[in-house]
Amino acid sequence: MERKDILSAPFVKAMEDITANMYRLGWDERNGGNISYLLSEEEVAAYLDITRVIRKIPTGFDAGPLTGKYFIVTGTGKYFKNVKEDPETNLGIIRIASDGTTADLLWGYRDGGKFTSELPAHLMSHIARLSVDPENRVVMHCHPTNLLAMTYVHPLDTCEFTHTLWQMSTECIVVFPEGVEVLPWMLCGTNEIGEATAEKMKSARSVVWALHGLYGAGKTLDEAFGLVETVEKAATIYMLTAGLKRVNTITDEQLKILAAAFKVTPKAGILKTK
Ligand code: 13P
Ligand code: ZN
Repeated sequence: MERKDILSAPFVKAMEDITANMYRLGWDERNGGNISYLLSEEEVAAYLDITRVIRKIPTGFDAGPLTGKYFIVTGTGKYFKNVKEDPETNLGIIRIASDGTTADLLWGYRDGGKFTSELPAHLMSHIARLSVDPENRVVMHCHPTNLLAMTYVHPLDTCEFTHTLWQMSTECIVVFPEGVEVLPWMLCGTNEIGEATAEKMKSARSVVWALHGLYGAGKTLDEAFGLVETVEKAATIYMLTAGLKRVNTITDEQLKILAAAFKVTPKAGILKTK
């Protein structure tokens, strides 16, 4: 079978572009941030011999529900700014093996590296999102500056945090009517933070890791990116106005008008019922 050059694959190009953009926006200093993108077998088989496993890498947890699924995933310790110039070192394509606890490496991590240390949070979040949205394909983690700053000065209650973000820009309630979920500080790279993130991902596509960063999920790279961008924009407005006397705001009444006009259902328990 004639196979095309993997470096010309749209999903590799898309990963190069999105990581470059995230770096440009200051969301991913050094090796900060990671992305996992679910691919179909057909997509991968058009470029790679899927029977040729380069290495087997333990995942450290049971990803059983994802057995046989393919992902392109950023490498641990790798810099988003470098993905474009050397995708084969900074990215990898893996398939979850039948034991659920091993990943078959089919391409990438050329320097002997492996997938992000946040693989548990990514794969557990994929399982959670797929259970509520079978079209979800992307989980993205990054360190957006203002969102991170906001977690130092704003209460971490999920409802309060969501309400503040909704007030910071008119489009917020339309883009994330389900709100953002907030986790307290936890040790990153562990199965525990993965489980906590995935639990929150059942009801929302954005999960804030206090004092660390943000997780966003979506059907496409663009959708997850747009979600992170909108949350970060709102946090930026918050940080620009925090400490200043606020004389105007978007009221709950206006938020309800917006939700009705755009036919979205806001997370319950946040807007005042009057
Ligand atoms: P990795 O380099 O392992 O992807 O970790 C970066 C990060 O953001 C940890 O939360
Ligand atoms: Zn991080």
